Amino acid sequence: MEVLEAIRGRRSCRRYDPRPVEQEKLLAVVEAATWAPSPGNSQPWRFVIMQDAARKKAIRENARLALRYHLYEVSGFQLPALHRFDLRPLDGVGFGSHRPPPVHESYHLDFLERVPVFVAVAADPRATPDWVNEGRDDGHKYAAAAAIQNMLLAAYSLGLGSLWFTLFHERSLKPQLGVAPQLHLVALVCLGYAAGAPPRGHRREVSDLVRFLKEGEEDGT
Ligand SMILES: Cc1cc2nc3c(=O)[nH]c(=O)nc-3n(C[C@H](O)[C@H](O)[C@H](O)COP(=O)(O)O)c2cc1C
Repeated sequence: MEVLEAIRGRRSCRRYDPRPVEQEKLLAVVEAATWAPSPGNSQPWRFVIMQDAARKKAIRENARLALRYHLYEVSGFQLPALHRFDLRPLDGVGFGSHRPPPVHESYHLDFLERVPVFVAVAADPRATPDWVNEGRDDGHKYAAAAAIQNMLLAAYSLGLGSLWFTLFHERSLKPQLGVAPQLHLVALVCLGYAAGAPPRGHRREVSDLVRFLKEGEEDGT
């Protein structure tokens, strides 16, 4: 498959078929991740593959708590874009004096228990020390992000659906997934055969986002 075809065709998948994913495909997806660029070729990424029901449940529970935290304690309900998520009422979660806005009451996280495979992508900050990373402390995260995008595109080219998922409470989830405390848990990549075609989100026009700078001209954006 052409790279551009995969880039344009890939969509976030939140509905999965229970069909198991072949081991070779999982390994091909992770191998694709390892070809991503990284500062000084430091390759700071680590991958933990999970397919068992107990861990899926733990991920869902953790997401439920993270959702409560983000929506009700940090965002002050300012996340209208979250209506796209597949979330059900947050039963049993205390809201204190707050009531969730109606749109949030229709969210649910149950799809997480039906995701066939999770790949936790972690990054080691010690692999990208300042000298390799031009004084910045976030190179390991950028590298992991590049690795994740490779995974999503590879998954698509192999006929798999995928989702870049970050709705978790990192500190409490890491020990449950066997991720060492010194690593940064960048994302959970959901993988599996899609149940139906994921919706196509819109994209802003390239012409609205790009400007060709002419010689001698200053960028006033
Ligand atoms: C850094 C990052 C974090 C994301 N976290 C989540 C998430 O926690 N839950 C979720 O359902 N989607 C998550 N997504 C997926 C985005 O919602 C999705 O990419 C976006 O809506 C565009 O849709 P598309 O991927 O189908 O083009 C995340 C994407 C990125 C890049």
